[in-house]
Amino acid sequence: MDVVELFAPLGETYDRYARLLSFGQDPRWRRFLVSRLDVGPQDTVLDVATGTAAVAIMLARRSGCHVVGLDQSPEMLETGHRRVAAAGLSDRIELIEGTAERLPFDDESYDGLTFTYLLRYVGDPAATMRELARVLKPGATIAMLEFGVPRRLARPAWELYVRVGLPLLGAIVSHGWRRVGSFLGPSIREFHRRYDVVDLWRQAGIDDVRQRHLSLGGGVVLWGRRA
Ligand SMILES: C[S@@+](CC[C@H](N)C(=O)[O-])C[C@H]1O[C@@H](n2cnc3c(N)ncnc32)[C@H](O)[C@@H]1O
Repeated sequence: MDVVELFAPLGETYDRYARLLSFGQDPRWRRFLVSRLDVGPQDTVLDVATGTAAVAIMLARRSGCHVVGLDQSPEMLETGHRRVAAAGLSDRIELIEGTAERLPFDDESYDGLTFTYLLRYVGDPAATMRELARVLKPGATIAMLEFGVPRRLARPAWELYVRVGLPLLGAIVSHGWRRVGSFLGPSIREFHRRYDVVDLWRQAGIDDVRQRHLSLGGGVVLWGRRA
């Protein structure tokens, strides 16, 4: 799966359909993610896999901090640039093209770091986590949002949704969303089967790792501090 190709056709419609296909939960999850960061106007936060800059905009609005948003998709960033300008935040948010596996920043340069729906897309999540930790100042907060796999009674409904509902709804929207709709369920299931995310974080040098499952486990937010 070519990840750059997967996101290329989505930029324009991403925010609308991401909200719809997550039953309106996505913005709520992002708000909780952003609330985990203890930063203020003097701080600069790196938002990796920023996409259309939804988290970057929330961060700048909530804390008055400066944000650097990085993503490898020029199409997602193009929509991001428009959204940042429309929000009147061009002086506080800078968007740059780049890859999470090789961040173009010095060690210990950021006061906080967020990333959303990233680790399922990288070849080596442990190495990417180490790379994210590298650019954080000691003691700074890192927070992540990812889809989860609900347990117990909610699991059959989730399976039905990702196996049937999501591919079908995606197909109704567009060809690009059909691919995403079919890809997401197996990608989320396989990621959580292979990796213990808390362990990945600890091995990357993140302390005080905490997590909160949201919406019956459909979303999960992790946060911690760089040692
Ligand atoms: C599902 S979107 C999420 C976008 C945004 N974080 C949000 O919550 O709206 C995933 C984003 O990750 C980006 N991405 C995937 N792998 C990446 C990588 N290795 N480096 C940088 N960006 C990546 C994609 O281009 C895409 O914009």
